[in-house]
Amino acid sequence: MKDNKQKYQGSNKYIVSDELMNSVNIAIALEKPLLIKGEPGTGKTMLAQSIADALGMELIIWNIKSTTKAQEGLYVYDTVQRLYDSQFGDNDVANIKQYIKLGKLGAAFSAREKVILLIDEIDKADMEFPNDLLWELDQMSFYIPETKEQVSAVNRPIVIITSNAEKELPDAFLRRCIFHYIAFPDPAEMEKIIGVHHPGLERKLLEQAMDSFYMIRNIPNIQKKPSTSELIDWLQALVIGGISPNKIKNELPFMGILLKKNEDLDTLLNQLYNSKGQNKKNPNYKSGASTYYSGY
Ligand SMILES: Nc1ncnc2c1ncn2[C@@H]1O[C@H](COP(=O)(O)OP(=O)(O)O)[C@@H](O)[C@H]1O
Ligand SMILES: [Mg+2]
Repeated sequence: MKDNKQKYQGSNKYIVSDELMNSVNIAIALEKPLLIKGEPGTGKTMLAQSIADALGMELIIWNIKSTTKAQEGLYVYDTVQRLYDSQFGDNDVANIKQYIKLGKLGAAFSAREKVILLIDEIDKADMEFPNDLLWELDQMSFYIPETKEQVSAVNRPIVIITSNAEKELPDAFLRRCIFHYIAFPDPAEMEKIIGVHHPGLERKLLEQAMDSFYMIRNIPNIQKKPSTSELIDWLQALVIGGISPNKIKNELPFMGILLKKNEDLDTLLNQLYNSKGQNKKNPNYKSGASTYYSGY
């Protein structure tokens, strides 16, 4: 590694595993894009912010939508404005440069300092999108025919690409990336993450809420499993609502924060109803904090 300052060692607001930290540093050292996959809420977007914070670099975020085209990331030529100016304005319309607007990739390449470029949720776009960017991401350079200009990165940006795995990405694209999968945090990791957001949370409240949270995530047929951010919000609601830890498991207050679909709320109610019926006969059933960390 050329520069010690460029070694990522996590940041105080973001909990990172050693493996993820290594993947980040390998991607930085090899100057390859880091592709992060994982279900929603596993901290993919936040990782880019954490790297930017830790290395003191600017973060440029390109949010990908289903309609996003690769070209928009390079530059757009505002022909509509030029036409407007030619009729009503007093700009020199022969100066095409003023109608060229750099996209996020263009901005990252032409930044004076090395920046972090986050291409967020690349799997939202169509199949051609990743392939269309291969050359530019390899070369960190592109040509603007309208102005005969070459935009080349003086400092190759650190590129972080995230995917919720909605679609498979093309092989040629995968080959060029360092890949890392963020697994959903286990309870011990989740506790650390919660500690960042809610330091000093009452132990019993945390245990009961975590028990319920993982129980709900483990119910088969839940369509939209609650994620880390929902657990963080739920804990906040429980604290603000002054809910007693003893009531959490039985009453599951503010369930709408964890489950956003009516079908999922129904599935949960069915599950609770059925398991309560069975538990009377099941001698292995334990309630309360003793079930913590078990069965996940
Ligand atoms: N490792 C982590 N450390 C701290 N907070 C985290 C972590 N992972 C997730 N979070 C919390 O969960 C929220 C969702 O994370 P986000 O990066 O948006 O997930 P994703 O992009 O994978 O959907 C964040 O805003 C943060 O509050
Ligand atoms: Mg995200």
